This record gives sequence, structure tokens and C-alpha cells, in this order.
Amino acid sequence: MPRRLDWAAAVMAAAFCLSPLGPAAAQDARRGAPLVEERGCVACHGPSGVSAVPLMPSLAGQQADYITLQMILFREGLRQVPAMAEPARGLTDRNIEDIAAYFAALPSAPKPDRGAPDAALIARGAELSAARNCQACHLPDYSGRANVPRINHQREDFLLHSMAEYRDNLRVGADTQMNGLMHGISNADLRAIAHYLAHRP
Ligand code: HEC
Ligand code: HEC
Repeated sequence: MPRRLDWAAAVMAAAFCLSPLGPAAAQDARRGAPLVEERGCVACHGPSGVSAVPLMPSLAGQQADYITLQMILFREGLRQVPAMAEPARGLTDRNIEDIAAYFAALPSAPKPDRGAPDAALIARGAELSAARNCQACHLPDYSGRANVPRINHQREDFLLHSMAEYRDNLRVGADTQMNGLMHGISNADLRAIAHYLAHRP
């Protein structure tokens, strides 16, 4: 009888890992919530993870693996952002995964304050994004996947800032793919791409 229970437990554990709910077993948004509260993340990243502050990225609906990886980079001082040093300090990997699950589960939506669309700029941005194959990694709707971030529903100023940082080698991620992709691109082209992405549905 105990054997059968072990077997049943193993099957249930395996099913849980394979189900869409699987990650919740390892990463738990409910455990993340008090950590987010304690560390004041929303003071900068916005209540419900939607940022209302220039240059502060929104985190609502961001990919959990991406948030986890970036938090580890901040904690280890590999992505150097003074504002993020204190919030990331001393968190365990488990803490970080729980925080990531918390923000990933918040609904992502187009920003209410994204400003009026400029049709010409959007068309230029769409053309540049197609030519550079952004959707191959960020997915056709730009919602991202695993450690490739969601780049729709993001603040336009932050998108512009992060792309310029990759280009100028001020930001190096877990790999250098984005640095290579942004190499030599003009500010005008970056503005068009940021405007296009920020106005995606
Ligand atoms: C004092 C303001 C502040 C606080 C508090 C803060 N952050 Fe940040 N965070 C920032 C800034 C500024 C950036 C953008 C850095 C840059 O320019 O690349 C950032 C970036 C990030 C990113 C990377 C997002 C991306 O799209 O690349 C993540 C993830 C993140 N913060 C998570 C958190 C979490 C989780 C907490 C709480 C534990 C937190 N932050 C608290 C200011 C803050
Ligand atoms: C080969 C895959 C790949 C392609 C193609 C690609 N990206 Fe990325 N992108 C990534 C990865 C991986 C990251 C995260 C890198 C890191 O850790 O900093 C990223 C990060 C970003 C970020 C930072 C978002 C944030 O929240 O900080 C922006 C903006 C971005 N990409 C825009 C683009 C645009 C625009 C294009 C097309 C011109 C593009 N990417 C093409 C893989 C790709």
C-alpha cells in the first residue's frame, strides 16, 4: 500500500510539473507577494506592476524566467543599476523565483498613458522590426518567451533607453545577442522602433 501511494505521489508530481500550473509548484506568487511588499518594488514599478514613472519598466505580465534572470544579474552586480542594488540584495534564488511568479501573473495590458500614435513613426518602426527579425525571438505579438522579455505594453521611454544601452554596450545581458542586433543603429531608428512597440496591442 505505501508503495502505491509513493507511485501516485510521483505521478501527481510529474503531472503537476508538466501542467501549466507546474511552475507554481516551484515558484509561488503567494510567497512572492509579501517580499514585493517588504521591498517596495511597486513604489518604482507601479501598483499592479504598471509603471507610471519615466524610465521605470513595467513588470506586469513580464516573463517569469526573464524577471528571475535579471534579478540574479542585479543581485550579482552583473547588470548595474544603482536603484536595483538594494531591492535585489540578499534575496535567495527561491525568493527571486517567487517574486518573478508574482509579477508574471499580473495582467499585462496596453498602457493607458502611452500618448498619441504617430502613424509614420509606427510604419517605420514596423519596417525596421521586420527587417531585423525581432519577432523571431520576442514572438509575433512581442509578448516574449522564457528569458526573452515581453516588449509590447512596455513604456516607450524605457524601450528606447534599453535599446540605446545595448547599442552603446552600457547593458550586457546574459548573452550579447541584443548588443549585436543594435550595433550601429541610429537614434532616429530606435525612436521609431520604441514608438511602434509601445503602440502594439
Ligand atoms: C528605487 C526604485 C526601484 C525599486 C524600489 C525597485 N526597482 Fe526594479 N528597477 C528600477 C529601475 C530604474 C530599473 C530600470 C533599470 C534600467 O534602466 O535598465 C529597474 C529594473 C528592474 C527589472 C528589469 C526589468 C526589465 O524589463 O529589464 C526588474 C525585473 C526589476 N526592476 C524588479 C524589481 C523588483 C522585483 C523590485 C522589488 C524587489 C524592484 N525592482 C524594486 C527601479 C526600482
Ligand atoms: C536572437 C534573439 C533576439 C532577437 C532577434 C531580438 N531580441 Fe531583443 N532580446 C533578446 C533577449 C535574450 C533579451 C534579454 C537580454 C538581456 O538579458 O538583457 C532581449 C531584450 C530586449 C529588450 C530589453 C527589454 C527590457 O525589458 O529590458 C528590448 C527592448 C529588445 N530586446 C528589443 C528588441 C528589438 C526591437 C528587436 C529587433 C530589432 C530584438 N529585440 C530582437 C533576444 C532577441
